Amino acid sequence: MIWRKAEGCRVTLADGRELLDLTAGFGVAALGHRNPRIAEAWRAQEVVHALGDLADAEVTVRLRDALPRPAKLGVTGEDAVEIALRTALLATGRPGIVAFEGAYHGTGLLALAATGFEQFRAPFAAWLPGPVYRRAYGEDPGVLPEDTACVVVEPVQGRAGSRVPPAGFLETLRRRCDDAGALLVVDAIYAGLGRTGELWPGDGVADVLCVGKALGGGLPLSASGPRTSTRTRTPAARSPALRRSSCSTRFRPCSSVSPRPASVSRRPAGTAAACSGPAPETRRTPSSAACSSSPQASTGR
Ligand SMILES: Cc1ncc(COP(=O)(O)O)c(C=O)c1O
Repeated sequence: MIWRKAEGCRVTLADGRELLDLTAGFGVAALGHRNPRIAEAWRAQEVVHALGDLADAEVTVRLRDALPRPAKLGVTGEDAVEIALRTALLATGRPGIVAFEGAYHGTGLLALAATGFEQFRAPFAAWLPGPVYRRAYGEDPGVLPEDTACVVVEPVQGRAGSRVPPAGFLETLRRRCDDAGALLVVDAIYAGLGRTGELWPGDGVADVLCVGKALGGGLPLSASGPRTSTRTRTPAARSPALRRSSCSTRFRPCSSVSPRPASVSRRPAGTAAACSGPAPETRRTPSSAACSSSPQASTGR
């Protein structure tokens, strides 16, 4: 299907057929395609890029102020997820990620590790970080593995087919994270900014909240917002290279976490985890078959 024109909620195909775009451009065009107010706001800016490492453009400052949290901005949704996962590693010193079957978090290697679609993961399995512990979406994941840095979750799964979890699911994850001293990362990149009814779904429970897609209304923009502006004390958090690419230097998880050394070793493939649930996915063990059963993949972002 080749789009020739996209305007408001309608797209015109190359063969002239007109369709209603009920996907809103995979969640990007929440305010419609080519929204004239967005286009005009962009055109009216006298500075749109002000050498961000040195100073922010005024429009960037205004955007940050409009967000519910002090956020690190990115370009893609995957950027926002990556910032959140790095934040979890720096804040806890642990490498483990708990993610869900049917999850889609992007295709950069770190986000891809958390993504549950085997067809996206398989070609890069040798390079995927981990361990990643895969759990059933919508269910209590049980006691988290002891090396868990974070649980990453969509408030409503998008690519898996608009899967709505039972009420209380995010709160259950919040409790599991509190018990384990892990961070709860809510990926509201698809579900946020009104697509599922709430502007910032998960804001009440997330340690780090990721938004993207509709945030830019067609401009490439995303944000990863930690709950607080307190600094972490892990040595890695002081690395200048990481300070520039992570919101973690301004973050401390809501539960009190004793930072551990960043050099927690990976559990070898097949070794039993000290928790309930299946063994983690690792570089040598592509993701569990449980994830390949139902979700349909779609192409494009
Ligand atoms: C829930 C979710 N997270 C992350 C992403 C990745 O966003 P992007 O394609 O902008 O990198 C997507 C994209 O579909 C998504 O739906």
